[in-house]
Amino acid sequence: MQHQLMPLSFEPTALEPQISAETLSYHHGKHHAGYVNKLNSLIPGTEYENMTLEQIIKSASGPIFNNAAQVFNHDFYWKGLSPNATSPSAELAELLERDFGSLYAFQEAFLTAAAGHFGSGWTWLVITPEGKLEIRTTPNADTPLRGNETPLLTCDVWEHAYYIDYRNGRPDYLAQWWERINWNFVSDNLASVTNDPIAGYNQPCIRNDEVCDYVDAMQENERTPS
Ligand SMILES: [Fe+2]
Repeated sequence: MQHQLMPLSFEPTALEPQISAETLSYHHGKHHAGYVNKLNSLIPGTEYENMTLEQIIKSASGPIFNNAAQVFNHDFYWKGLSPNATSPSAELAELLERDFGSLYAFQEAFLTAAAGHFGSGWTWLVITPEGKLEIRTTPNADTPLRGNETPLLTCDVWEHAYYIDYRNGRPDYLAQWWERINWNFVSDNLASVTNDPIAGYNQPCIRNDEVCDYVDAMQENERTPS
């Protein structure tokens, strides 16, 4: 199976000024693409050849794991960014307040963890099997997908994510990255865990019945307030 580089859903300049088109071009077109190409070169003839990305991540080690995990982590990172201003769903806001005290307190804790992570890696908002929101940092390519916690949001703290725009100023990058979070994506991830189709803004209703028609209408109304 050939793994594909996930196309971005926005234009190269769409995240400016926080993330420049040049950074986007290198990060997506060189680094992310590099992991995809490397993975595709490593798996032919191995037991991983016909596995999905998630199956590889859960069972591989060494270079195959590293490249597969980096593909997933980058897909997740890009989906978590938006050119447009977004805000957490009511359900997500409630859980952030419950587990961190407030959205601002979560922001402080998340950005502090990301700034303090030694070396390359990722910072995550996850939900535990018990339903608690937690902040995690993982080194290098490591990802929560290996464990039993579900990722809701990630920030890439590899230097390649910010060096062009912010040089070695990781905290400056983090503060600007925060402005581009796609809260619809985070809310939808939470909704998929809690199985509440009303909780996310873009969560598709999978049943073909009147309840789904109602939910779709509500969500459409929420996206396009009068
Ligand atoms: Fe990256």
